[in-house]
Amino acid sequence: MNIVIVNGSPRANSRTKKLNQIILKKHDLKYIDLSEMEIPFFDGTDEQKHNIHVVNWMDAIENAEAVIFTTPEYHGGMSGLLKNATDFLGSKHLKDKPVAIIATAGGGKGGINALNNLRIVLRSLYANVIAKQIVIDPNDFISDESNLSNEIHLSIDEVINQLKKQVNVENMLI
Ligand SMILES: Cc1cc2nc3c(=O)[nH]c(=O)nc-3n(C[C@H](O)[C@H](O)[C@H](O)COP(=O)(O)O)c2cc1C
Repeated sequence: MNIVIVNGSPRANSRTKKLNQIILKKHDLKYIDLSEMEIPFFDGTDEQKHNIHVVNWMDAIENAEAVIFTTPEYHGGMSGLLKNATDFLGSKHLKDKPVAIIATAGGGKGGINALNNLRIVLRSLYANVIAKQIVIDPNDFISDESNLSNEIHLSIDEVINQLKKQVNVENMLI
């Protein structure tokens, strides 16, 4: 199954990126790291539609059967990197597609605003964002941030299982 996970953090020593790497060790997913893609700032010109990074991004999301978007919470919202990347997408890339969202936060009850922000943006792209969502706090990481707590692993497993079930239902309906 073609499930894509997207790292939406621009930071070099990013916890969101570490989260992605931990998930990829356990689950067979395709990986898009927006911090390495050099997607330009969206300016609405046709020229950008031929930019190789933009084309790769749009194709990967369009061809995915399901997508997991991961973002840090920055000042109560998703990262600018991820928001800019979503501006290149339209409903043809995400309409009715099963999507999950995960936020990496600073602790102190952060993360929910980034999730709500991302959910609204994805809803406007007609994605089918599943109800279960996850906030990862710094203390959810263990072993020098090379792994996550068991509780978080179980939540991630559940999210991925839900996405797979949704994809199977969609395929039965076609
Ligand atoms: C510019 C900036 C703004 C932040 N704003 C918030 C915030 O509003 N809420 C929160 O919980 N954490 C906030 N944090 C903390 C980050 O969410 C936290 O460090 C998280 O691990 C960042 O993910 P990253 O390591 O992928 O950048 C902020 C961090 C930065 C750099």
